[in-house]
Amino acid sequence: MNKSRQLGQTDLYLSPLGLGTWQYSTKDSSGTSMWGNTETETVYEIIKYSLQNGMNWIDTAEIYGNGTSETFIGEVTQRLQREDALATNPFIASKWFPLARSASSIAKTIDDRLEYLQVPTIDLYQIHQPTSRSSLRKQIEAMVSLAEQHKVKQIGVSNFSAKQMIKAHRLLQEYGMTLASNQVKYNLLHRSPEKNGTLEAAKELGITIIAYSPLQQGLLTGRFHEQPESLSKVSRFRKLQSNLTTKTLQRTEPLYQELKRLSLNYGMTISQISLNWLINAQGDTVLAIPGASKIQQAQDNVEAMNFDLSNSDIERLNRISATL
Ligand SMILES: NC(=O)c1ccc[n+]([C@@H]2O[C@H](COP(=O)([O-])OP(=O)(O)OC[C@H]3O[C@@H](n4cnc5c(N)ncnc54)[C@H](OP(=O)(O)O)[C@@H]3O)[C@@H](O)[C@H]2O)c1
Repeated sequence: MNKSRQLGQTDLYLSPLGLGTWQYSTKDSSGTSMWGNTETETVYEIIKYSLQNGMNWIDTAEIYGNGTSETFIGEVTQRLQREDALATNPFIASKWFPLARSASSIAKTIDDRLEYLQVPTIDLYQIHQPTSRSSLRKQIEAMVSLAEQHKVKQIGVSNFSAKQMIKAHRLLQEYGMTLASNQVKYNLLHRSPEKNGTLEAAKELGITIIAYSPLQQGLLTGRFHEQPESLSKVSRFRKLQSNLTTKTLQRTEPLYQELKRLSLNYGMTISQISLNWLINAQGDTVLAIPGASKIQQAQDNVEAMNFDLSNSDIERLNRISATL
């Protein structure tokens, strides 16, 4: 059920699902992204619905449209506040992009983040990837400095291996902080965090795992199994990223059938079963951030927090997905 969970060992309590916003990388036909354009009113409706119906946080990143996603979030949350439409302000998670950059860019770029998001501080600031020109120590030092200046509250990483994650945690401990989270790809068709030690180490050290691509970019919603021809509308990059092919649909048919059976049993949708597995199978360690490009998807996804799969159904899903 939708009970807030402690983010790592911090004083932040987040809903099991937050809103992913990579989808909002292109504003009102002003560019291109693998997700296509998103209209301002659609983003407004999605964010409003999500925040009014149980989500209390939003995940974004500098790299999502070079600030476009952050700008969308800033504008929409300001508008919702003016309209008195929110009981509380959402928590915001964003990310610094390290590729081909050194740690000095962390301090240089933070003010843009705050300006676009229209907030004085970012609740969770994450290092987007483990590859940078600077050592991890230098990056952590720059992140800690932002925390000391109250520009960010908590520090997380993304796409870090178990070893890299443990190192980031130990470095933060030297500065009296802990690593709040590691954001990694995790879903019923991509369970590597269970096998590569990331999940185990996160549980041991009290670090939250934030699952991205929780619906395998649509594959775990049933829509492509039901209408395989709709695969042709998906961008080449997305197909590559999530292995969206006819062969994959055939291989994953047993899981689709099980998700369909459970969806009928519980009176929930296939997407809701897939998301509920993620936020229930590993206790409170895992949070997930489904993206939505349509209001119906947001409505569908938030409901995934309002029921619990039984242990035996979770086990059955574990078994079937392990055989694919
Ligand atoms: N840290 C990282 O490196 C990293 C990497 C990837 C993503 N992320 C984050 O994770 C978030 C989510 O991951 P993601 O966007 O890759 O994948 P995802 O959440 O698995 O898939 C999102 C897409 O699935 C479809 N969808 C969502 N809900 C649906 C529903 N209820 N019914 C039918 N279709 C539905 C939509 O596709 P259509 O738009 O085609 O309708 C939507 O755009 C991103 O927004 C981003 O914030 C982080």
